Amino acid sequence: MLMLHKLRSLNVQCLLRNVSTSKQLRSEELVVHRDGHENNPKTPFEFSEANLNRLCAIIQNYPEGAQRSALGAALDLVQRQFGWIPISAMHKVAEILSIPRMRVYEFATFYSMCKRRNRGKFNVKVCVTTPCMIRGSDVILQAVEVATKCKTGGLSEDGTFGVDIVQCQGACANAPVMVVDDDYYEDLTLDNVYEIINALKAGCIPPQGPQSGRFCAEPCCGQASLLEPPPAPGFKLQPALVK
Ligand code: FES
Repeated sequence: MLMLHKLRSLNVQCLLRNVSTSKQLRSEELVVHRDGHENNPKTPFEFSEANLNRLCAIIQNYPEGAQRSALGAALDLVQRQFGWIPISAMHKVAEILSIPRMRVYEFATFYSMCKRRNRGKFNVKVCVTTPCMIRGSDVILQAVEVATKCKTGGLSEDGTFGVDIVQCQGACANAPVMVVDDDYYEDLTLDNVYEIINALKAGCIPPQGPQSGRFCAEPCCGQASLLEPPPAPGFKLQPALVK
């Protein structure tokens, strides 16, 4: 404490702030709901007939009393229909599944794929977990912010883009990774980011997957193992076990 006090008196607060260069996470956004003009228990929401039929069919997959298992699918349907998940829709889902509202809140606040506010026409999510971070996710995120003219956590002026940071998206072998709605863009370079965002602005959905041209997560230099045909059944089996 004494040391800190001395450093402050030397007017080096700016240096102290730079000890950590990670972006500040607004974690309360993940768990807190405050009623607002757009999102409150009275926000109009009803499932469309088609989605209600889909939901009923999904619920039928589970035994009586286990309808709550359809919760993830129900919220996904809400999101695809409405664009995001207002609290009124959470209440509707709780009512249909006969579960406490709290169960729905828990799910919707835990999974980052549940959008609890408007995230624009295209929700661009940049992975910042370690494998992506050491492959340059910081500069990818900066490029996304510049290309979309949208700050992380915000919405672009015309409502086209909402930019978010997310944790591991399960594609670490193809880091750095950016996800736009359901589509993964992998092995990204800065040029790729601008190309993808410009294509989205022009109304095209660019080809998803690795942008480096490699197939899935194969080595960049081509397949390097498992080159021979697999051995026949019984390979290396003890002689006593071979009939
Ligand atoms: S760390 Fe980015 S996809 Fe796993």
